[in-house]
Amino acid sequence: MGSITTTDGLVPNWFPPNRENYDRIVFLWKLYPLVASLQWLVSWYGMGKTSVPSSRLNIPGRIAWFTMEIPGVLTLLYNMRALAAQVPAGEDGLPYQNKVLAALFVLHYAYRAVLYPLLQPSMSPIHALVWALAAAFQVANGVALGGWLGAYGPTTQADWRARQHGPWSPGQFALGLAVFYVGLAGNYYHDEELREIRRRAGRRAAAAAAKDGASREAAPGQAPKRNPVDKHYELPNAGLFRVVLYPHYLLEWVEWFGFWMAAGWGCVPARCFVLNEVFSMLPRAVRGRKWYAERFGEDKIRGRWAVIPGVV
Ligand SMILES: NC(=O)c1ccc[n+]([C@@H]2O[C@H](COP(=O)([O-])OP(=O)(O)OC[C@H]3O[C@@H](n4cnc5c(N)ncnc54)[C@H](OP(=O)(O)O)[C@@H]3O)[C@@H](O)[C@H]2O)c1
Repeated sequence: MGSITTTDGLVPNWFPPNRENYDRIVFLWKLYPLVASLQWLVSWYGMGKTSVPSSRLNIPGRIAWFTMEIPGVLTLLYNMRALAAQVPAGEDGLPYQNKVLAALFVLHYAYRAVLYPLLQPSMSPIHALVWALAAAFQVANGVALGGWLGAYGPTTQADWRARQHGPWSPGQFALGLAVFYVGLAGNYYHDEELREIRRRAGRRAAAAAAKDGASREAAPGQAPKRNPVDKHYELPNAGLFRVVLYPHYLLEWVEWFGFWMAAGWGCVPARCFVLNEVFSMLPRAVRGRKWYAERFGEDKIRGRWAVIPGVV
C-alpha cells in the first residue's frame, strides 16, 4: 500500500492525487448519494424518454453518450499507471488482481462508452447539464478506483493476503468475477432487447415506406416524414422485463457488485461505485415506471416493478 506525499502528472498532487488529496476526493465521493438524492425533488430529467424536445443545450445522443462515458476509463487508466510508476510495486509491477480489475473496467466501458452509442438504432439528445453531471461522475469514479488500483489499495501479493483492506480471498475474487460476468451479460441482453424494438420498428417503417414509394412519386411536394424509429417506444417483454421495467439497470448493479466482491469488501471506491450508481439510477427507474404507466396504462404493467422485484 502506497502513501505518496507529492505526485507528478497532469495536475501535480491532484491528477493523479497524492495520498492527502486522494483521501479528500474519496471522502467527497462517499457523500455523492446526498447529491444524487436531490433527483427525488426534481421532476426534470433531460435525457432519454424525458429528454427536452428542443433545447439549445441539447447534445446529440451518440456524441453526448460517448463523451460523457469515456472520461471514466481514461481517468482510471491514467491515474493507475501514473501512481504505480511513483510507488515501486516490486519487480513484477502491480499484482494480477489489480490488472484484472482494471481490465474488467475497460471491458465494461469498451461496450458502454464506445460500442453502445454505435449499436443503438437511435438515441434521444442529452441536455448539457445531464452530460456534465455524468462526466463529473465518471472522472470522480476513475480517480477513486484508479488511485486504489495504482497505489492506495493493495500493490503487492503480500498486501492482498494481509487483509489490511478488509476480508479477501482468491475464492471470493473468482466468485466476484463470475458475478461480474453474469451482470455484464444480463445488462447487454436487456440493452439488446430495447435495441431490437427499434430495429423491428425500423424494418416495419422501411417496408411501409417502400410500399408508399409509388404513391409518393404520384404526389410530389409532400413534406418528408421524421425518422419513425426515433423516440419509438414499446413495452419490452423479453427476459426480466416481464418482472421489472429496468432490468438493464439491475444487472449493471449486479455487475459492479461482483467487481466490489472481487476487489474485497474493504475496497471503499468499489463500494462507493455500487452505491453511487444505485443512488443516481434508482430515481430514474422509478420515474421511468411512472412514464410507462402513463404511456401504456397501469393495467399493462401491473406486477412489474421499476428495478428491484418485490422492493421498488
Ligand atoms: N442513466 C444512467 O444514469 C446510467 C448510469 C450508468 C449506466 N447506465 C446504463 O446505460 C444503459 C442505458 O441507460 P439509459 O438510462 O439510457 O436506459 P433507458 O432509458 O432504458 O434507454 C436505453 C436505450 O433504449 C431506448 N429505449 C428505452 N426504453 C425503450 C422502449 N421501451 N422501447 C424502445 N426503446 C427504448 C432509449 O432510447 P431514447 O434514448 O430515445 O429514450 C435508449 O437508447 C443501461 O444499460 C444502463 O444500465 C445508465
